[in-house]
Amino acid sequence: MTSNPGVRMRRMSAADLERVTEIAESLKDAPNWPRAAYLTALDPDAAPRRIAWVAEEPETGALLGFAIVALLPPAAELEMIAVAAERKRRGTGRLLLTTMVEELKSVGVCEVILEVRASNHAALGLYRDLGSSETGRRRRYYADPEEDAVLMNLRLM
Ligand SMILES: CC(C)(COP(=O)(O)OP(=O)(O)OC[C@H]1O[C@@H](n2cnc3c(N)ncnc32)[C@H](O)[C@@H]1OP(=O)(O)O)[C@@H](O)C(=O)NCCC(=O)NCCS
Repeated sequence: MTSNPGVRMRRMSAADLERVTEIAESLKDAPNWPRAAYLTALDPDAAPRRIAWVAEEPETGALLGFAIVALLPPAAELEMIAVAAERKRRGTGRLLLTTMVEELKSVGVCEVILEVRASNHAALGLYRDLGSSETGRRRRYYADPEEDAVLMNLRLM
C-alpha cells in the first residue's frame, strides 16, 4: 500500500466493482467495459494476468480512481485509467501511474505500452508528464466517433 496526502493506493477487489464501473460510466473518455471484463482483470489465473489498483480517500474509503494493466513480459499495457470527475487534476492519475510503474519495475517490466484517442488531451498530458513518448498512430482506429489512436511508450529501464 502506498499513500500521499489525502490518497491511499491499494489493489482492486471485487467489492470495488460497483464504484469502479460507476466512475468509468460517468467519464466519456473511459473505455466501456462490461462487469465480466473487470472480473477477468481480477482473476489471477486469467491470461494475460492483470494488475489493478484503486486510489481511495484514507478517512472515508471513498474510491477516487483506478488503473488496470495487462502483463505481457517484458512489457505491460495500460488498459484503463480513470479518475472520478470531481477529483480530476489533483494528482490522483499521476499517483496511480507512479505506483503502477514502481510495481512493474519490481517484476522486471521494461516498458509500458499506452494507446489513446488523439483527442484525449488529459490522458495524453498525463502520459507525457510521466515521460512517455509517441511511437506511432493507428489511423481511424476508434469508432463512434471515428478517430486516430496515438500509440505511446513509457520506458522503465
Ligand atoms: C486522464 C486522467 C486519468 C487524468 O487523471 P488526473 O487525476 O486528473 O490527472 P493528474 O491530476 O494526476 O494530472 C497529472 C498531470 O497530467 C497532465 N494532465 C492531467 N489532466 C490534463 C488535462 N485535462 N489536460 C492536459 N494535461 C493534463 C498534467 O501534466 C498534470 O499535471 P499538472 O496538473 O501538474 O499540470 C483523467 O482525466 C480521466 O479519468 N480521464 C477519463 C478517462 C480516460 O480518458 N482514461 C484514459 C484512457 S483509458
